[in-house]
Amino acid sequence: MLNIALFGPPGVGKGTQSKKILEKYNLTYISTGDMLRSEIAEGSDLGMKAKSIIEQGGLVNDELIIQLIEKKIKTNPGSKGILFDGFPRTTVQAYVLEGLMLKLNTSLNCMISLEVPEGELINRLLLRAKVSGRSDDNLEVIKNRLKEYEDKTKPVADFYDKKHKYYLLNGVGEIDKIFENIIKIIEQTKSVSHTNIVLLGKPGAGKGTQGNLLAKEFGLVYISTGKMMRQEIKDGTEIGKLAKPYMDKGEIVPDEIPIQLIERKINENPDAKGFTFKGFPRTLIQAYIMDGLLQRVNMSVSAMIDMKISTLEAIKRLSARSRTEKARPYDGSAGLIVNRLEQYKEKTNPVIEYYKNQGRYFSIRAEGSEKEVFENLEKKVEDILHDAY
Ligand code: AP5
Ligand code: MG
Repeated sequence: MLNIALFGPPGVGKGTQSKKILEKYNLTYISTGDMLRSEIAEGSDLGMKAKSIIEQGGLVNDELIIQLIEKKIKTNPGSKGILFDGFPRTTVQAYVLEGLMLKLNTSLNCMISLEVPEGELINRLLLRAKVSGRSDDNLEVIKNRLKEYEDKTKPVADFYDKKHKYYLLNGVGEIDKIFENIIKIIEQTKSVSHTNIVLLGKPGAGKGTQGNLLAKEFGLVYISTGKMMRQEIKDGTEIGKLAKPYMDKGEIVPDEIPIQLIERKINENPDAKGFTFKGFPRTLIQAYIMDGLLQRVNMSVSAMIDMKISTLEAIKRLSARSRTEKARPYDGSAGLIVNRLEQYKEKTNPVIEYYKNQGRYFSIRAEGSEKEVFENLEKKVEDILHDAY
């Protein structure tokens, strides 16, 4: 997702620039001021509570604002991102925003703040008063709004500055020039966001083969927990000794083991553009662990791609592999293959549901030649990246 907050005092141009940003990016627009004004126009309970506060230029209480925002987000599931105008306006609201982003498994890309001298702000708003019909566009109330901004809203800038997400821009000058500068910041913060792809599919679906190709094509680091564990076993490490009995039986190893290996690999690649994960998460608990692991380093799963093959095809491929040098200890017997396919179904279905509910589930047909499957996969990832910005 692409999430942006526009920040600054009344009259600085937040609404004006929002229109232009929305023309360029397909985002959900959350302007708490506009939403409050329409609640007032509808005469709703919430509107009635907010009316007199707005008319005096004060800030509406945080609870009401949170209700409004929750309502808007619920009516826009699967959104490509959110543009916030006039929110967060208090430190409490900044914490609320952080929680909200976490819940949506995303984070704020940037807070863009516009700066205009107070005299010009007042002039702009008095000029706007002639056409806006806004009850708060008169000199006395404008002064109050500016004071509220100084007292309660400005500290929010610090909150995001500490997170290195705060960008200050000059808001005086041509509207289009200011917009250009805003776009530059947005594009810059977009490019630092990571691409993390999880590949899922029955044993034998080709996750390893395709995962490697995918990582190469998109410049990602390939993480296969199975491959790393086999290496640990080969090297006779402590982790290897712990993992071996499970691996030999074709069973899922205790979560501590892949967690350590993944963390290590992520830490070894601090400049990675993103990661391709193969073989993890395989259980619902691991899906939660994965989110936690990535959150710690300010990342999230961009997409989970289910590589679909039939059961028959899986059996064919695994027994064929058993006759090659890539054979795994559990490839040879029909009993072990069936055991793995059963485990896969039982443990992985909840993982698929988990990603589906968050709009991060995608699937491709993984039967056909290696080349055909890769073409399907490549196209899918390109679509996902394009949609996600
Ligand atoms: P809200 O509606 O958010 O108003 P505001 O923050 O006071 O900001 P404005 O909408 O007045 O200004 P703007 O920055 O959008 O500027 P605009 O683009 O229109 O909030 C209203 C009230 O609701 C608050 O006071 C509060 O009571 C309540 N509220 C809202 N959110 C809340 C929250 N989260 N918590 C608690 N309470 C909340 O531009 C202004 C004028 O300047 C326009 O006429 C425009 O054409 C012109 N202009 C724009 N850019 C330029 C430029 N570059 N050069 C010359 N003119 C320009
Ligand atoms: Mg506005």
